Amino acid sequence: MKKKHKNSNFRAQLRMMDVNESTRFYLDNSKQLLEKLNNITFLKENIELLRNLIRFHEQRYYVMNNPLLADAEFDQLYAALVKLENENPNLITIDSPTQRVGPGFTKQFRTVPHLVPMLSLENSYNAEDLIEWNRKAKELSGLPFLNFCVEPKFDGASISLVYENDLLVRGATRGDGVAGEDITLNLKQIKSIPLSAAFSTYGIQQVEIRGEVLINKENFRKYNEQLAEQNLPPLANPRNAASGSLRMKDAKLVGKRKLEAFIYHIAYVQYNDNKKEIPSHSKSLEMLWNLGFRSPVNEKMIFNKIDDVISFCAEYEAKRDTLPYEIDGLVIKVDELKMQDKLGMTTHHPRWAIAYKFKARQSTSKLLQVEFQVGRTGSITPVAKIKPVPIGGVMVASISLHNEEFIREKDIRIGDSLLVERAGDVIPYIVKSFAEVRNGEEQQIVFPQNCPSCNANLIKTEEEAVWRCPNSHCAAQIVERMIHFTSKDAMDIRGLGDANIRKFYALGWLKEIPDIYHLPFDLMKTMEGFGAKSVDNLKDAIDKSKTQPLYRLINALGIRFVGETTAKGLSQHIDHLLDLQKFDNESLQKLEDVGVKVAQSIFQYFNDEENIVMLRKLESAGLQLNSIKKQSAEGNLTGKSFLFTGTLLKMKRSEAEEKVEANGGKILSGVSSKLDYLVVGEDAGSKLEKAKKIASIQILTEDEFIELVTVTTL
Ligand code: IVH
Repeated sequence: MKKKHKNSNFRAQLRMMDVNESTRFYLDNSKQLLEKLNNITFLKENIELLRNLIRFHEQRYYVMNNPLLADAEFDQLYAALVKLENENPNLITIDSPTQRVGPGFTKQFRTVPHLVPMLSLENSYNAEDLIEWNRKAKELSGLPFLNFCVEPKFDGASISLVYENDLLVRGATRGDGVAGEDITLNLKQIKSIPLSAAFSTYGIQQVEIRGEVLINKENFRKYNEQLAEQNLPPLANPRNAASGSLRMKDAKLVGKRKLEAFIYHIAYVQYNDNKKEIPSHSKSLEMLWNLGFRSPVNEKMIFNKIDDVISFCAEYEAKRDTLPYEIDGLVIKVDELKMQDKLGMTTHHPRWAIAYKFKARQSTSKLLQVEFQVGRTGSITPVAKIKPVPIGGVMVASISLHNEEFIREKDIRIGDSLLVERAGDVIPYIVKSFAEVRNGEEQQIVFPQNCPSCNANLIKTEEEAVWRCPNSHCAAQIVERMIHFTSKDAMDIRGLGDANIRKFYALGWLKEIPDIYHLPFDLMKTMEGFGAKSVDNLKDAIDKSKTQPLYRLINALGIRFVGETTAKGLSQHIDHLLDLQKFDNESLQKLEDVGVKVAQSIFQYFNDEENIVMLRKLESAGLQLNSIKKQSAEGNLTGKSFLFTGTLLKMKRSEAEEKVEANGGKILSGVSSKLDYLVVGEDAGSKLEKAKKIASIQILTEDEFIELVTVTTL
């Protein structure tokens, strides 16, 4: 029996508090409860507190779009309530958060009802949870075993699409599960959502399908790079980027965000007379795929033993970071649709599906202090030192705060509680500070006016968001330049890591880069912690670096805006590094990949006498300053340049680029009149638009490209 519950006591306590106090109250209680989730007696006695905490966090998450707990922490609270109520049905109240799907709208878009409620998923975190779920499902189904379809749990924004008579008539967010926000116009901008689909060939007159809108990791990284170029702080993760993009007022801008949609569920179908039965979920994914949707049909796996599902979950989690998009787990679904019907749903989730959640990558922590680090180009980066927390298996103690603007925009203060995230290969990020729970002891972060290393007055130009130390002799800059010089993608001197460079600098052995080639190895061997063997290895690595190809040396010099690609291009145009002294701004800009900013920076570098003296010292030390030009392969593409845009479906971009090079062609990094061919994959963006305006560029589809390289290879 569900009973009504009296909240009066709790409310009375809250009435006495102001907003900040009550928020702190909720947060403190949540944290305390999270520590006591194993104490069933305590939980039972405090079940109404637990419910109120969940209600509060739902409100923060769904309505205010401003959560105060990490997702996994909320999930733990929710799971504890579900378990408690399952074990003690007499404690269930009609207004318990487990009895509905959760509130939530913003006011911007019209609200539309879903044809059937958009439910959530039950979560599982380990093998035991899955075994128990399987036991219950088998019991309810009356079958000795079930077939499971396992697919990725996409970490984006969930959407619902309605097609009537083969036409997309409506697209909505999840909202409160019963009704969502009408974002049809925005969803129509996403290329992987067909505006019409031949559902009628399956006898379907009206259908509501569900899926997830994502931005892939590569596009997310590029988007953050664009933000950085405009001196704007990055977005925390692809999920926020996707859900933020979906709610933009200007639909045209949505199209520019390179969003993708995976469709993974048919929620409601109304047939006409030619009904074609779909027997299973996996077949429905196939149907969706055939109709032009991006369903996870290629990602799915079918099993009939839960043990195999469990092993698969572990294997998949291990390769999570290699996927092109973020997933936060897997979804295990009973495959036969008749069985799904038999198992049915609760008000919260279907009993025929369960999510297997991967290790959480968000956590809360506290900002202890801020350090200001000087980069090799003098940029000053504020770095947050936080109370160390494990996130996704890695201990996180330091996180970049990017620049002053980021700190001001997020209103981050020393002593603040923080929400911290480390999404896959994305570097740790401070999602937000919890301003509401401040106790008044927090302090503003004061940006220094002088370099923390050499005390020079810091400067900031109009176009930049970063402060810089203008003193190129600044100790911190010199050390950072040496660290970059020896790094893996540059001269790759193993054994001379950050710590040794700092140590040797302090000893006076390394005053500038060429000193790396005159280290006193005999003396080093007498020092504590330096065995003869490791010193010999270091000496070998240093000697070996002398013959690194010129492009690596150019990259190693740390010239602003000159990375590996530009370095490779430059080395192809010169016979000797010092030839670059002869190039002026204009001639530099004629080179591929060299724009105004890059040309200016190269010009400045090679017109600074100090740099030339240093390069001569490197040459005397035996370094290779001559360019050994890559004998580009001869082939039918010799002299032709290529660029790829959008997602290729039949091969990886790197493979396609290799094919071009193997046939003597070149890869460019941007659209310009120097480009011969633009190969266009799925969801091509601005490059295509730009290329269309240059008549000399030939635009190829992926198939045309394959034909071209296949013919030329023969
Ligand atoms: S099935 C009625 N499949 O996860 C069952 N959901 O945490 C409908 N999600 O609200 C859900 N990938 O937004 C399903 N392959 C997948 C999914 C998936 C991501 C999302 C979905 C759901 C949420 C629950």
